[in-house]
Amino acid sequence: MPLHHIRRGNPLWLPFHKINGGYPFTKLMNDNTIPTQLIQTLRTAKQVVVLTGAGISAESGVPTFRDAQTGLWAKYDPMDLATPEAFQRDPRLVWEWYTWRRELIAKAQPNLGHLALVNMQTYLPKFTLITQNVDGLHQRAGSQQVIELHGNLTRSKCVNEHIVDNWQAADELPPRCPHCEQILRPDVVWFGEFLQEQTLYKAMKTVEQCDLIFSVGTSSLVQPAASLPFSALEHGAKLVEINSESTPLTPHVHFVLYGKSGAILPKLVNLTW
Ligand code: OAD
Repeated sequence: MPLHHIRRGNPLWLPFHKINGGYPFTKLMNDNTIPTQLIQTLRTAKQVVVLTGAGISAESGVPTFRDAQTGLWAKYDPMDLATPEAFQRDPRLVWEWYTWRRELIAKAQPNLGHLALVNMQTYLPKFTLITQNVDGLHQRAGSQQVIELHGNLTRSKCVNEHIVDNWQAADELPPRCPHCEQILRPDVVWFGEFLQEQTLYKAMKTVEQCDLIFSVGTSSLVQPAASLPFSALEHGAKLVEINSESTPLTPHVHFVLYGKSGAILPKLVNLTW
């Protein structure tokens, strides 16, 4: 089945797990050392991809999803707030939850991890940032041409015409499309929905061509995003994970850097260039 036919959140599709038995030749266990081999690999890389998840925004005060105490899914059921069915059932509730998140994100600032990726981009001949985050903090930090796999919650979309526009406050919630009067929804991909085909295609093509890929601050659980590092591996790329905990991806990576991305990424960039 082609990757773009996989619905968001599909747990069945983990195709490349068996291509290597896991070969982490360097592990870093909270000792704050960046392996020399990794610095060398990054310095000579021709095409680098960074895939980010909610963890990179954690140090900006934006809650992650699956952290046991502070994660959004510890407090709310995604089926009540992040599915098309939930929106159909109670559009106002879903809209208000996204308004709360929009306000939280508007007050947040990009952190040192976001800024380090902006820096990294300036040193590399080819660099692509792919994010699962809908908070827009990479762009606010200065990253360019970010591939947003799951959309962006600062934008709204007409449920009828699919026109995307910027959010504007309105008396009626959810607000209505100025063209056709149908309700607006956040321009994000919910569980059970397809990712935007061109966006996913671009991400897939980029990971197939890269020689080094970083997976930063993601639990590597949500498909199809979680398959992208495996696809890069299959095409011969080196894989690095930066996370405060291990994930299902960890046994497959070449380098794992345990800790906060806001500390590790600036250090990595400073040591490399
Ligand atoms: P998760 O909440 O699943 O995972 C966050 C990851 O970040 C975890 O593996 C944490 O260990 C790690 N982490 C937390 N703080 C960190 C820090 N300071 N530095 C480095 N790592 C840190 O978030 P995602 O993997 O992004 O979808 O989740 C993917 C998708 O599932 C999201 O797009 C979202 C979610 O449900 C929807 O909104 C519908």
